Amino acid sequence: MQFGYFDDEQREYVITRPDTPLPWINYLGCEGFFGIISNTAGGYSFYKDARLRRLTRYRYNNAPLDTGGRYIYLRDDDAGSPNFWSPTWQPTRTPLQGYQCRHGMGYTTIQSTFSGIKAETRYFIPLGANLEIWQLTLANQRPEAVNLSVFATVEFCLWDAMDDATNFQRNYSVGEVEVVDGVIYHKTEYRERRDHFSFFTCSERLAGFDTDREAFLGAYRGWDSPAAVERGALSNSIAHGWQPIGAQHVRLHLEAGEQRSMVFLLGYHENPLDSKFDPPGSQTINKRSLTPIIQRYLQPTEVKSSFDQLHGYWLELLEKFQVHTPDVHTDRMVNTWNVCQLMAAFNFSRSASYFESGIGRGMGFRDSNQDLLGFVHLLPAQARSRILDLAATQLPTGGAYHQYQPLTRRGNNEVGSGFNDDPLWLVLSVAAYIKETGDWGILDEPVVYDNTPGTEEILYEHLERSMQYTLDRLGPHGLPLIGRADWNDCLNLNCFSTSPGQSFQTTTNKDGKVAESVFIAGLYILAARSMIQIASMIAREKSARVYSQAIDQMEQAVGEAGWDGAWFRRAYDDFGEPVGSITCSEGQIFIEPQGICVMAGLGLADGKARQALDSVAERLATPHGIQLHQPGYSHYYLNLGEISSYPPGYKENGSVFCHTNPWIMIAEAMLGNGAMAHDYYLNINPSMREQISEVHRCEPYVYAQMIAGREAPTYGEAKNSWLTGAAAWNYVAITQWILGIRPEFDGLLLDPCIPPEWDGFSVERIFRGKLLHICVHNPQHVSRGVTAVEVDGLKIEGNLVICEPAGDEHQVDVWLGK
Ligand code: BGC
Ligand code: NOJ
Repeated sequence: MQFGYFDDEQREYVITRPDTPLPWINYLGCEGFFGIISNTAGGYSFYKDARLRRLTRYRYNNAPLDTGGRYIYLRDDDAGSPNFWSPTWQPTRTPLQGYQCRHGMGYTTIQSTFSGIKAETRYFIPLGANLEIWQLTLANQRPEAVNLSVFATVEFCLWDAMDDATNFQRNYSVGEVEVVDGVIYHKTEYRERRDHFSFFTCSERLAGFDTDREAFLGAYRGWDSPAAVERGALSNSIAHGWQPIGAQHVRLHLEAGEQRSMVFLLGYHENPLDSKFDPPGSQTINKRSLTPIIQRYLQPTEVKSSFDQLHGYWLELLEKFQVHTPDVHTDRMVNTWNVCQLMAAFNFSRSASYFESGIGRGMGFRDSNQDLLGFVHLLPAQARSRILDLAATQLPTGGAYHQYQPLTRRGNNEVGSGFNDDPLWLVLSVAAYIKETGDWGILDEPVVYDNTPGTEEILYEHLERSMQYTLDRLGPHGLPLIGRADWNDCLNLNCFSTSPGQSFQTTTNKDGKVAESVFIAGLYILAARSMIQIASMIAREKSARVYSQAIDQMEQAVGEAGWDGAWFRRAYDDFGEPVGSITCSEGQIFIEPQGICVMAGLGLADGKARQALDSVAERLATPHGIQLHQPGYSHYYLNLGEISSYPPGYKENGSVFCHTNPWIMIAEAMLGNGAMAHDYYLNINPSMREQISEVHRCEPYVYAQMIAGREAPTYGEAKNSWLTGAAAWNYVAITQWILGIRPEFDGLLLDPCIPPEWDGFSVERIFRGKLLHICVHNPQHVSRGVTAVEVDGLKIEGNLVICEPAGDEHQVDVWLGK
């Protein structure tokens, strides 16, 4: 069952009924000002940091679902009894005709018709501005004229979303607003240390406003039936503490057939500390620098041109990689939606979505480095500065803060460090960046440790410390110690927590000299292979040799203690007992080491890689994707930690974690198995799953973190959409390994591994400033094996395209065969 469809031409997902199984959202904004918007206009806005600078309130976990948003009400002022509705369905949920929500790249448009009044609202954030535009167009389709009232509303958040949701004793007294010339200013705490405020305004003359929530709603009423809307008039209330809101009222006369547009702006503004007030010494906001911005964006021509600019920005991004294959689900995700999700993950890491509250988690070190693997070709300059930001939070030990706050860019002390895989991901992201751009100069950038001035070392040294961190922490089998956790945050082998509510990630009761991770061993080898290439390139031959030796040792350790007979083991616990072994009663086989070890090249020569992947196919693969492990843990294991806190089939306890599936796709592609790789790809491809939306329940245009596994009562149900490493890794798997267009340090490697029935495919790829038209021909219907490559009609040696030849555009033909 579907709740909408893909409009591939427009690059939009069109939702055709408002009551989707869960709110289906989109992200607005690409720079500093951001918003989350659902298909019924729910969601919230923030400046840079969803926790520290939140503009509007949102109530997670509430009923009705999706409470808080950018709500517009329309009221028929000619109707005998009060007749009002929400043209975006929420919050009144009046049945609408022709409801349609179009989520596009950086914008959302919601339209509907009710009793002959057609309404369309387009929400977007212009490039270069800290505000969002709600462009409302109303059309009177009745045979007679109508008098309408339009009410546009937001509920302000008192900036720090955590404090806003908890510190009521203070917050009920601090709220302040100002209303001047039809602009509502929210200025809570501006009187003291804040240099910022928000504003809400409109292109039309206001018939009235409200800024006090209960004055607008009426006591004990909800957003579904505001008394002021029912009455048809606002009371020009000024909030003193309590809950400041912005509500604007516009009256409108529309002739039969007439159409009118208006614009609402919700924005954020900062003033220099020494000129906050106007006149100086007063408590009135200085509006001098803001007023021209407001005037500018209220102009219809400016609204149009900033929308066109945003559209152009996205098209340019998408042009970096466009593919045409025989499979619509592949094309749609690669060409549009996977990129859209990559952008969200890059911007928000795991901080703000409908599943991530925006309060708890800043930018993840492991997460953001992995996100870069897919993102780097889109905006290399931004990827570069993200890498340097991440490296600046690294600790002198080579370890890493697990998270940092985007606003302060400082490591988050509450969560701390000790996730022993973290530092290695920095090596992978830097390697990916250099492979994409050829910018070796990044290695010479001076970067501090732990944000401490005076500790600068070049980025290359950070990478060396990352690598050394693993070698400094080896366990009894010569495998890396796991610390608090590795990729699997919930495999907490040193925690032994018995207190309810204790955080499994930050409470470490053992000093951890025994529990080891086979996963980190694989990751280390994968990273070390890049380090050898990097070190050789910059004439650090000695380091390159050290890494080669370290790989040999690590391989030996994995060979001796990491192989279980038919697959790679997962770990050793604090008692030195294996995890992910046939000898375990539960959790016998895990996906992570099978993926990472094969990706690191282990078992390729002796058949163990194939055997491991066959075990995955036999024991972990389901029609809904590949599970994390099997069997799921049926009860709580003190020595395993959070993994066993979830019921079997959910989250880290054996769900299909979409992040890890691409590792198996890549591994299968490395072994030349294109059909299998693409099959795994399709099983979790959101577009492919669109047809079972009633089971999947999350958005059909982006990956969710997890799909409930076979042991779960709700098998096949997705959760935690949008902010997941699944975006980057699926993108890497499909574009670099299945389609096989893979940046390497010295050029672009063409090594497709596709389903044999494909006749071929074509790709437009911008690589190091050159546009390549790549056409892959598969006349003999093989999966893999390049027999010839021609660049501009001339045969080249091998399958690595070095973009040396002059010219900005090249035709590249690739022939596969036996
Ligand atoms: C989640 C993980 C997350 C961890 C740390 C766990 O409950 O399942 O996905 O990484 O918490 O916040
Ligand atoms: C989500 C976390 O953000 C990520 O860092 C982790 O690897 C996975 N969960 C698995 O635990």
